[in-house]
Amino acid sequence: MKKRFIIFTVMLVILTAFAGCRKKDDYNIDYLVLVNKLNPLPEDWEEKLQTVHFTNTVGNDVEVEKRSYEAYQKLKKDLEKEGIFVDLDSARRSIAAQQEIVEDFTKRYGADYTAKVVAKPGYSEHHTGLALDLYLIIDGKNVDENEDMLQYPEIWEVIHEKLDDYGFILRYLPDKEHITGYAYEPWHIRYVNDSKLAKEIMDKGITLEGYLGTVKETDPEIVLGNSMALSREELEEVAIRIKCQFASWEGCELESVRFAGDEYITPENVDMVNLLGKTDKHVLAVKFFTDFRTPKEGYNDLKGDHEYKDFQWWLACDVEGDWDIVIFGE
Ligand code: DAL
Ligand code: ZN
Repeated sequence: MKKRFIIFTVMLVILTAFAGCRKKDDYNIDYLVLVNKLNPLPEDWEEKLQTVHFTNTVGNDVEVEKRSYEAYQKLKKDLEKEGIFVDLDSARRSIAAQQEIVEDFTKRYGADYTAKVVAKPGYSEHHTGLALDLYLIIDGKNVDENEDMLQYPEIWEVIHEKLDDYGFILRYLPDKEHITGYAYEPWHIRYVNDSKLAKEIMDKGITLEGYLGTVKETDPEIVLGNSMALSREELEEVAIRIKCQFASWEGCELESVRFAGDEYITPENVDMVNLLGKTDKHVLAVKFFTDFRTPKEGYNDLKGDHEYKDFQWWLACDVEGDWDIVIFGE
């Protein structure tokens, strides 16, 4: 009786260990999962996800999908050989954490800017654990504010060149805001668990959306012309704002974004946008045009399979220089 009990117990232990190993080996998630303005986090994602936690140099807890973390460690070591030091500001975020970021940014920078740089809760790639936000450590100091990090293009260039070797891609490319829905983020890298595939995406300079074929990878013509009233940076900022908004227009293909000219920058037009926007905060209003094609089934109130030409956009800015999209239409 006792012997049988021992054999039974030993078998149970072996079976449990075997089941445990299998569970570990079976770990698999869709490393090409697409989460963006049109595609929320899949419902069963969190059940499958396995993550690790660590504390970054600022003392914050960071949670990362486990294979992404291993790959990130290798990338980090490789960068250190080049004298580049990085750490992770944020990787996996819960829906509640994303909500906090949205609230914080809205208070600090307004709703339009927030929509340009922060995803709606449930629609952030950070929920997957596969999106990692790097920050730089320069001369022992943490450089982790977006505006400051953008001042180091030459460092980002070295980092971006190495990404594919470790199965990462750069997710929010400059000039692709109409596809990704977000302005350029040199720090936001995305693990795809396949260096060959990552290399293909990076070499082609395309988005994950374009690679997966959920959108046609187009490069719209951007015509900013010359303005006496606005700087090149301001015109670019407005064009990016329009492109980010456009990314949510499912199936529509953006062909061009054009500044309509200084002749529309008048006090009457400021009054007009303030009236329409039910506010008096705007001090400058500008007009842009876009050309785009709609899909067969149309989009919202837009006609299906139609070529829209000279579709108008009015954007306005307040004294702080924050831009809002006030109206758009034919
Ligand atoms: N900053 C990226 C878009 C996010 O909030 O997910
Ligand atoms: Zn990010």
